[in-house]
Amino acid sequence: MVVLAASCTTSRQSSAGFRLPSSGDPERGRVAFLELKCYQCHEVPGLTLPSREATSARPVRLGGETDRVMTDGYLVTAIINPSWAIARYPEVRSTDSRGASRMPVHAENITVRQLTDIVAFLQSRYVYREALPNPAYN
Ligand code: HEC
Repeated sequence: MVVLAASCTTSRQSSAGFRLPSSGDPERGRVAFLELKCYQCHEVPGLTLPSREATSARPVRLGGETDRVMTDGYLVTAIINPSWAIARYPEVRSTDSRGASRMPVHAENITVRQLTDIVAFLQSRYVYREALPNPAYN
């Protein structure tokens, strides 16, 4: 018999027990997204956003079709601790010269209310599609 004892232990970094308040509101999240100027580096398919300041960096898409499961925990981490959860898209430069996310750390200037609402807003913008079959296995 194989006993997988290690898989039963939880570490301090485990996401077990993580839950945002259920009061997250996508519309308030959209407003916070604008107030915090997230659109300076992000585009959201289907949404008209203020124009970005002139910059050479291509915007990173948030929302739209994806086959990655965007958990609340992942999105919160991406927002408050971006260098831990770096999204890499071939067409976008994600990191600076030191390998850290180009996204600023939003730990000082975001309230839990805004964070909860922004996550509700982003979740409302993702459309999950079935993972595409891998041709190598067909
Ligand atoms: C100065 C540019 C910049 C600003 C401002 C910015 N971001 Fe980002 N963001 C990035 C970059 C670059 C990435 C891709 C690298 C990474 O995941 O850290 C990213 C990634 C993300 C991701 C993960 C996307 C994925 O597909 O996994 C989320 C979620 C996100 N940002 C949300 C926000 C929110 C919400 C705000 C406003 C509070 C914001 N960002 C402001 C540059 C920015």
